[in-house]
Amino acid sequence: MKVTVVGAGAVGASCAEYIAMKNFASEVVLVDIKEGFAEGKAMDLMQTASLNGFDTKITGVTRDYSKTAGSKVAVITSGIPRKPGMTREELIGINAGIVKEVSQSLVKHSPEVVIIVVSNPMDTMTYLVHKVSGLPKERIIGMGGALDSARFRYRLAEALRCPVSDVDGMVIAAHSDTGMLPLISKASYKGVPVTEFLEEKEQNHVVEETKVGGATLTKLLGTSAWYAPGAAVSVLVQSILCDQKKLVPCSLYLEGEYGQKDICLGVPAIIGSKGVERILNIPLIESEKERFSASAKAVRDVNGNLKF
Ligand code: 2OP
Repeated sequence: MKVTVVGAGAVGASCAEYIAMKNFASEVVLVDIKEGFAEGKAMDLMQTASLNGFDTKITGVTRDYSKTAGSKVAVITSGIPRKPGMTREELIGINAGIVKEVSQSLVKHSPEVVIIVVSNPMDTMTYLVHKVSGLPKERIIGMGGALDSARFRYRLAEALRCPVSDVDGMVIAAHSDTGMLPLISKASYKGVPVTEFLEEKEQNHVVEETKVGGATLTKLLGTSAWYAPGAAVSVLVQSILCDQKKLVPCSLYLEGEYGQKDICLGVPAIIGSKGVERILNIPLIESEKERFSASAKAVRDVNGNLKF
């Protein structure tokens, strides 16, 4: 099955690379606005096929959305990334126009597509795609929670001094430095609550480092991260293409779930061939409910800047 990745920058190329390396898609089409750029990235990636042992075909195109026709999944990474000191919300002005145009071009050529939104501010861009693409809500997914949960597990493993595969945890609510909600109360170390092993101070450290995970990397790299965002996208794409029905927190359009309406926000969901198959309503403790509502309010304020 065919996957389109729009934006051949670091994040888009990383998405294409991880999707191809996992060998579950027949074709990945990379699209960019810069003449020859996607073609070059695709060729470079294709020259790793014999070395890395994958058969996924990667092609690159400049602006030509007709080449994306029939995509089962499309990933939008286009727009500008943040620079050190910038919040994701500051990118809204430029990125909203780009995401609107891209999502409409994708749907024109692939009416059955499931769109995964990566561009920032991610929750607001996912909401924008809802308003302008005409796609049903099940087929629009913001990838933030998948990435933030991976960063949470990394920080948990670091604090517990154990392998990452021994820990589990989810991050819900907004994909923003202040609105993210790492669910420490539900995180586990081989099924045992991490709160049994970590002092409150250590728990707070894990939570705070997770929330600023993207900002920390932006400061170190001078631009936003790409490996973990690409890997997070590849997990979502594989769950859709292979109908894995994985439980992944992601930004979805809410119609009353978690007490919120007409907003896209990170919640746990089952992701399968139809896109979002089910939103899970997990019980939150009082402080988590309060933080979820505060996060929703902040995202709503940012959404208020959108013009459709
Ligand atoms: C991040 O690295 C891309 O927003 C993204 O957090």
